Amino acid sequence: MTESIAPETDTTPDDAAPETARNSFPFPQGPDRFPFPDGPMASPPPEFGRRRAQCPVSEVTLPMGDKVLLLVKHADIHAVMSDDARFTRDLSQPDRPRLFPNQEVLEDPTLVMNMNGDEHLRLRRIIGPAFTPRRVEGWRPEIAQIVGELLDDMEAAGSPADLMADFANKLPTRLVLRQFGLPDDDGARLQRWVSAWLSVAAPEEMDAIRVEFSQWVVDTAERSRRDPGTALIDRLVDAHDEGDRMSDAELESMIRSIVAAGIESIGNAIARSVFTLLRDVEHWEALVADRSLLPGAIEELMRVNPPGGGSVGLMRKATEDVVLPSGALVRAGQWVTTPVVAAAHDPEVFPEPEEFRLDRPKTAPTMIFGAGRHFCPAVHLAKAEVEVTLSALMDRFPGLRMAVAPQDLPWSNSNFTVGLPGLPVTW
Ligand code: HEM
Repeated sequence: MTESIAPETDTTPDDAAPETARNSFPFPQGPDRFPFPDGPMASPPPEFGRRRAQCPVSEVTLPMGDKVLLLVKHADIHAVMSDDARFTRDLSQPDRPRLFPNQEVLEDPTLVMNMNGDEHLRLRRIIGPAFTPRRVEGWRPEIAQIVGELLDDMEAAGSPADLMADFANKLPTRLVLRQFGLPDDDGARLQRWVSAWLSVAAPEEMDAIRVEFSQWVVDTAERSRRDPGTALIDRLVDAHDEGDRMSDAELESMIRSIVAAGIESIGNAIARSVFTLLRDVEHWEALVADRSLLPGAIEELMRVNPPGGGSVGLMRKATEDVVLPSGALVRAGQWVTTPVVAAAHDPEVFPEPEEFRLDRPKTAPTMIFGAGRHFCPAVHLAKAEVEVTLSALMDRFPGLRMAVAPQDLPWSNSNFTVGLPGLPVTW
């Protein structure tokens, strides 16, 4: 058994790419600074590969100065994320590591993602039925309708278009609004609020916007109470009102997290998937030629280019001494970070991990949607939105291409996720 180890050398790797993706937040400099610079075109940080070979469990310093153990091997990351008994997610503890100046999203104890044990289970039981595969199948026609409307607009405006602004951001926003029984024209302000809530920048600049977002959430719940329907919002409000199964604060937080997760992650997933397919256009053409391959391609697309980047990692704290599969010891009380992208690009598990392969065997979980009790409740919805979108894009614009060279696209990390501010396309 080995103790967790720090890197021996004091050098930033030579192959570290220019910080194209880290352009909106002042990340600290230094050999153990974390998050590491991404590779070219927001690919996983080259430093993950070096550490995987030399020091798979090592201490790194977060932007706010706190230290955590960084895991980079699939086996270690899976062991931690799936072990809810010995690793807790509770970032409201006083010794929690701070990642960014604003980490309201990571620390708010009323958010389901920050809960543990029975409290967490109670909320998961409430939202679980809203996202079953059967219910998601029921939403497919609505998703297809919104996709069709947006593609009509895009086609009418003509080539070139910005797939991000004209489509990828609008689809999940419009779907959330319809799931919440609200008119489409709330979309722009909803996007602005979500972006502010997820911003890693100084909180005071965002205060006014957050107050507006909270008021919208309260008003939305109130409207559902006055005029109940069958939308997702009505199920959540029912669960709250019937026998106090959810507190006021929990209801508000649940609405806020479903809105934010629904909007931010899906826009990102669509843009990254289209980017991966058009970067090596034969992948796009293979799927255009044989659409039956599409459902199986979605998870591989997200593995190659995980939505949100995932190179920061999900924090967990050891509740007892644990020996990881790599042999490293994590002591009780130590915080670890588990970047999903490092797991999804571990060449021991996914050979030639940068390659998108339609025939890649499903040998191990990608963990793109997490693992263990916090596993994404909306996985089926997320996959359905991406699949319906890609299929409709291929029907409508089989000759779709990027309008700029892939290496010239800017990436932004102003939120918890690294995303594409724009994706110019032609057809
Ligand atoms: C491609 C899109 C998406 C990806 C890659 C994704 C990924 C993830 C991951 C990795 C987690 C686990 C976090 C952890 O273990 O700490 C998670 C949790 C969560 N996701 Fe998603 N997600 C996506 C879409 C969505 C959508 C569309 C919604 C809502 C409509 C959603 C709602 C949630 C919620 C509420 C949680 C917290 C669950 C809990 O802590 O028990 N996600 N997601």
